[in-house]
Amino acid sequence: MVRIVHQEAQIVFFCVLLTCEGQSTTSCNATLCSSKSSPRCSMNIDCECFSLPSNPASGICAVADLSCSSVVRCNPDGITCSMPNTVCVNNTRCQQPVCYPSALANTQICPPVMPENGVSIATQSGSFLVPSTWSSLLSPGAGTTVVIPAGITVTLNSTNQLSLSGITILVFGQLRIGGGSPYTSYTFVYPVNIYVYNGGIVQDSTRNRSGIYFNVNSSVIIYNGGYWITQGPSYIYIYYLQTSAIRGILQLNNIVGPYSLTITYSGQIYNNG
Ligand SMILES: *[C@@H]1O[C@H](CO)[C@@H](O)[C@H](O)[C@H]1NC(C)=O
Ligand SMILES: *[C@@H]1O[C@H](CO)[C@@H](O)[C@H](O)[C@H]1NC(C)=O
Ligand SMILES: *[C@@H]1O[C@H](CO)[C@@H](O)[C@H](O)[C@H]1NC(C)=O
Ligand SMILES: *[C@@H]1O[C@H](CO)[C@@H](O)[C@H](O)[C@H]1NC(C)=O
Ligand SMILES: *[C@@H]1O[C@H](CO)[C@@H](O)[C@H](O)[C@H]1NC(C)=O
Repeated sequence: MVRIVHQEAQIVFFCVLLTCEGQSTTSCNATLCSSKSSPRCSMNIDCECFSLPSNPASGICAVADLSCSSVVRCNPDGITCSMPNTVCVNNTRCQQPVCYPSALANTQICPPVMPENGVSIATQSGSFLVPSTWSSLLSPGAGTTVVIPAGITVTLNSTNQLSLSGITILVFGQLRIGGGSPYTSYTFVYPVNIYVYNGGIVQDSTRNRSGIYFNVNSSVIIYNGGYWITQGPSYIYIYYLQTSAIRGILQLNNIVGPYSLTITYSGQIYNNG
């Protein structure tokens, strides 16, 4: 968290209240988000809805565990803040309204829960290909952005391949690849893009060096605090759909983000930590 605060401090400097060039604040319905059982305001479990004293029904969705000593009180009116780039929020933890840095409420840090339009959100742990895993009660089709929220594990193990094009997987919980009996390898038949966020885990459960097959045009991006876990090491085979030719082999050990693996159309591999 400290690291985010430092990075974002520079962004705060250039931002004006609640808006920032290229970034926007994730807003939320404070009435809806006030109880523990209520829906979260963000896919990021570190974020929570803070109501605005100026309009208690509305709120901003922001990183929750900012210490009370690192923020200042709102002005005596309990509604405004004199410090630039902050917004006055009710904070029950701090027992008084405090001035919250707007940059910690932006959509990059607290991505909003997305509407289900071309998006499948996992609502319980289970197999990727099983409808009950998904809020839509349909297993994801081609072109879907798949979201695995924190606390949920989705497994790709009921077959030895995923044969859907245009799949993007956002991992806040856990994605397990392979390990289904009797298969030893796992193949993404089409290009896939996997993003692993803070607290998210991709577990490579393939066995016996059989590895994971990624097509060209695929990417795996692991942000700060995201993990790649292997029974070790992971064997990553880059192949070309049209010819099935292997273009490259990578070995990966356990990884903590930031890390990115990008494979271009021509099979060139960009791999950095
Ligand atoms: C917030 O949620 C409450 C409770 O569901 C609802 O009555 C209200 O209209 C919502 N407010 C907004 C601005 O969406
Ligand atoms: C937030 O502040 C407003 C105005 O002071 C107050 O009416 C409201 O009850 C507070 N809400 C919470 C959750 O503390
Ligand atoms: C897939 O993984 C789940 C969870 O780890 C496990 O319960 C299930 O038996 C596995 N399926 C196969 C076919 O191995
Ligand atoms: C993996 O390799 C070991 C040792 O060679 C072998 O005993 C085992 O049967 C293999 N497992 C699978 C699932 O192929
Ligand atoms: C890879 O991306 C390029 C450029 O976007 C596209 O033309 C090509 O068809 C893609 N290849 C595959 C195998 O998806």
